[in-house]
Amino acid sequence: MCGIFAYLNYRVPRTRRDIIQTLIKGLQRLEYRGYDSAGVALDGSGKDRAASVSLYKTTGKVKALDEEIYKNNSIDFEAELDTHFGIAHTRWATHGEPSPLNSHPHRSDKNNEFVVIHNGIITNYKELKKYLVSKGYDFESDTDTEVIPKLIKYLYDNRENDYVSFSTLVERVIQQLEGAFALVFKSIHFPGEAVATRRGSPLLIGVRSQYELSTEQIPVQYNCSKSRTDEQEKNLLNRRGSTNALHSVHDRLAVEFYFASDASAIIEHTNKVIYLEDDDVAVVVEGKLYVHRIKRAAGEDPVRAIQTLQMELQQIMKGNFKAFMQKEIFEQPESVVNTMRGRICFDSNTVILGGLSDHLKEIKRCRRLIVIGCGTSYHAGVATRQILEELTELPVMVELASDFLDRITPVFRDDVCFFISQSGETADTLMALRYCKQRGALTVGVTNTVGSSICRETDCGVHINAGPEVGVASTKAYTSQFVSLIMFGLMMSEDRLSMQQRRLEIINGLKKLPELIKEVLALDDKIKSIADELHHQRSLLVMGRGYNYATCLEGALKIKEITYMHSEGILAGELKHGPLALIDKHMPVIMVIMRDACYQKCHNALQQVTARQGRPIILCCQDDPEISNMAYKTIELPHTVDCLQGIISVIPLQLISFHLAVLRGYDVDCPRNLAKSVTVE
Ligand code: F6R
Repeated sequence: MCGIFAYLNYRVPRTRRDIIQTLIKGLQRLEYRGYDSAGVALDGSGKDRAASVSLYKTTGKVKALDEEIYKNNSIDFEAELDTHFGIAHTRWATHGEPSPLNSHPHRSDKNNEFVVIHNGIITNYKELKKYLVSKGYDFESDTDTEVIPKLIKYLYDNRENDYVSFSTLVERVIQQLEGAFALVFKSIHFPGEAVATRRGSPLLIGVRSQYELSTEQIPVQYNCSKSRTDEQEKNLLNRRGSTNALHSVHDRLAVEFYFASDASAIIEHTNKVIYLEDDDVAVVVEGKLYVHRIKRAAGEDPVRAIQTLQMELQQIMKGNFKAFMQKEIFEQPESVVNTMRGRICFDSNTVILGGLSDHLKEIKRCRRLIVIGCGTSYHAGVATRQILEELTELPVMVELASDFLDRITPVFRDDVCFFISQSGETADTLMALRYCKQRGALTVGVTNTVGSSICRETDCGVHINAGPEVGVASTKAYTSQFVSLIMFGLMMSEDRLSMQQRRLEIINGLKKLPELIKEVLALDDKIKSIADELHHQRSLLVMGRGYNYATCLEGALKIKEITYMHSEGILAGELKHGPLALIDKHMPVIMVIMRDACYQKCHNALQQVTARQGRPIILCCQDDPEISNMAYKTIELPHTVDCLQGIISVIPLQLISFHLAVLRGYDVDCPRNLAKSVTVE
């Protein structure tokens, strides 16, 4: 949902070519967040370069932007810049079609006095635009973002004090904005300075310095920018020697700052990062980083700590795979192990999720569990609902975040609400979380992104530890969410004598899971040959029930999002209530029929399909001649405990969707109209 990246080098000489490469590389790491169009803003060329800003923008992917910049003969790529600040953006269109004018950075005026990059949505932009137009400011794009550079210029043009700092202007801007944003500003009036802020959209700052950064903390400065006098502003402008800054003790510092929507764009430069909180205004002046806030909220931490990222660059590289999605599918034997690592003791059959231990008593006393998510993360809730009900003996509601909010669903203090999210930033899920918090429920995050908004705003949680997921179509995060929720059920039932046999069976199943996943991945060639047969089709139905219904929903979602074929996950129990009308010899159908309590019922559905000349491709257990004889094709899968079978059965569908997309000639990792992290409603 748009990626923002900015790079500031202070007393670190870099050629313009190096700076452009850093910005382009940063955008490429974030491209999964949006790839409709891209742009950068750099200091202009010439003598007084900091007094002008050059903008480069294109439609299409970041590569197109890179080519566009290098077409430009007037740029001196080899010029060495001791200090420079560049901002860059890759866009996923929400307001206004993809076009150079609508792409970021957006500017205040034809002189590019203020330029800004934005991730999020400004919901009151129409009112602001009307006001600014009435004051004579001209707009050139159809975006909501453009009000921001216009507004900051308006505030600058009409400043009450002669002295006004860049951060004061930004503080005043965000007081007028409604909606969600992560913003980075650059201005010819404040050369070499950077200002960044966020509310509801993610933003972190990486720092690379010659000084050891492990223990540094930045004290937040609280002040109301509205009431600053000239004198106070002068002090702000002349901060040298202030102790409120990172690096304030080092006189001859050389430092680089990286601003990004997520850590994957920063990790190759530094593992030292600062996560900004909502409404923080971070400013870099003369190589020193300050954090400002208008006022201190109750219970708020008055410092921002430097944290060390645990991620490796290798984890976000594609290696020998054709696409990140393919790599991530094949990582599942390891990613599920990482999810379980240090949490399950196979000798004592105990499960401990450290992030929940302190709240376990409270959870056990609750009235019901509500599991909330969107898309694939919602499906992880559907997949585990039955076993959670069995192991916790609590009613479990599974909710799509958007619908949950639309219904203004009643939530009570004795509810426990789980928020499932790979990115930890999905706007609908985040809003549902705030909704439940307001009503006093205990909130639990199940996320894959350390430091994400959902992690930070929930009372407690579980990191699924699947490793960075870059492909827009979620795969390994799904299986790790699945395993995490099962582990939660096991932890809840540890003291139930009547459940020990069942728990043992599941724990043994989890132990064998990585090997079984490898067995399924070994079927890739066969699965590809099935995709070969199907790739010209327009539609593909996926049918099953019970523990494997979620597999059908998830498989159909994978197929539609990356192959653009119509696909539907159908509950086999509903077949005769409508979907059966779709079946004939031309309609491709995949059925999931595993040996569990629903086997006979699925068998009945199979008979209904074959009686209408349907030619089902069946995912079934190994050695099941009864099913194989009725199938057009089978994919035979290893058998496991009923509640874990969905982890095994979803993998062939992930692989089918991948092969179908490749055969149909589509970009697997960047499906049209989609983005990895949906930070808008
Ligand atoms: C599908 C997919 C999406 C996400 C959904 C929620 O492959 O990736 O459906 O699952 O947008 O995203 P997170 O899990 O980041 O909250």
